[in-house]
Amino acid sequence: MSSSTTIPPTTSAAAAAAEAPQPQKRTLSIFSLEGKTCVVTGGARGLGYTMCQAFIESGANVAILDLNGTEARSSAETLTTNYTAANPTLPPPKVTAHTCDVSDPISVSKTFEEIIQPHNHPSGIDVLVTSAGFVENFKAEEYPLPRIQKLWGVNVDGTYLCAVEVAKEWILKKKRGGSIIMVGSMSGTAVNVPQAQAPYNASKAAVRQLAASFAVEWAEHGIRVNCISPGYMMTALTQKIIDEQPELYNNWVSRIPAGRMGNPVDLMGAVVYLASDASSYTTGADIRIDGGYTVI
Ligand SMILES: NC(=O)c1ccc[n+]([C@@H]2O[C@H](COP(=O)([O-])OP(=O)(O)OC[C@H]3O[C@@H](n4cnc5c(N)ncnc54)[C@H](O)[C@@H]3O)[C@@H](O)[C@H]2O)c1
Repeated sequence: MSSSTTIPPTTSAAAAAAEAPQPQKRTLSIFSLEGKTCVVTGGARGLGYTMCQAFIESGANVAILDLNGTEARSSAETLTTNYTAANPTLPPPKVTAHTCDVSDPISVSKTFEEIIQPHNHPSGIDVLVTSAGFVENFKAEEYPLPRIQKLWGVNVDGTYLCAVEVAKEWILKKKRGGSIIMVGSMSGTAVNVPQAQAPYNASKAAVRQLAASFAVEWAEHGIRVNCISPGYMMTALTQKIIDEQPELYNNWVSRIPAGRMGNPVDLMGAVVYLASDASSYTTGADIRIDGGYTVI
């Protein structure tokens, strides 16, 4: 929480339910991820971390892929410990951590090879979530080109490289399908104000259109590709922006019909839906989860 501005908690029913992990409860079995392996880029923290938690609570094993290997390892440990404490009679999930720069093709290739090694996830990958990404606020005329290229390198190339890497495994080696979920943003559809972030907005529009294009290109291989486009969610990424410009918080919330920023757990249902058989006819979709921001 910022020391310079007072921010009320981003409460929601989902957040309250996720606060204290509960033993498994009954739900539709098509939402189960029992025995599946889910790879989450940027899974060491923020939205990616909460998606890892959703997958584990739905029965999956997880591979966290992150530039920050130390945080990825610590998050993998925390996820396993928390799940085991809440579900002592159930088998513990396999949660592995992999250091990777998603914008570097060699790093991506090596990491996906590492994930399927016998000591990690030898049965292969079932689901990929691309959550690694970042935002910067610069006026367009002042934004240094190398920084723009770095942002596109992670947000766009990183998404592309990871999706193609897993698709190659499914199409060429395993002859099977899978589910890819790309984390876009409402900024891929709306120009959110007042902060200037044109290259970020363009990068997230590209992510949404990559998901749609891959969905069409790979449908014949049984690969589904969808996009989740969050609104303002409270994570380290947004906290840093609010710390630097505290006046933004009230400005943002005043434009959100739901009257609050999102909590990462507000994305749990959508990501489990898109990863599971419950969404077997859903491909090329963009699910906006923004408290209504983009519909007014
Ligand atoms: N937080 C929000 O309000 C919000 C809203 C819409 C979309 N998003 C998108 O969601 C995604 C996650 O955002 P977040 O808020 O969880 O951010 P975050 O900064 O909390 O987490 C991002 C994670 O990605 C990792 N990462 C960054 N660059 C990487 C690279 N080159 N290779 C591998 N890992 C890398 C970081 O180490 C970090 O662990 C981003 O793509 C972001 O654009 C966030």
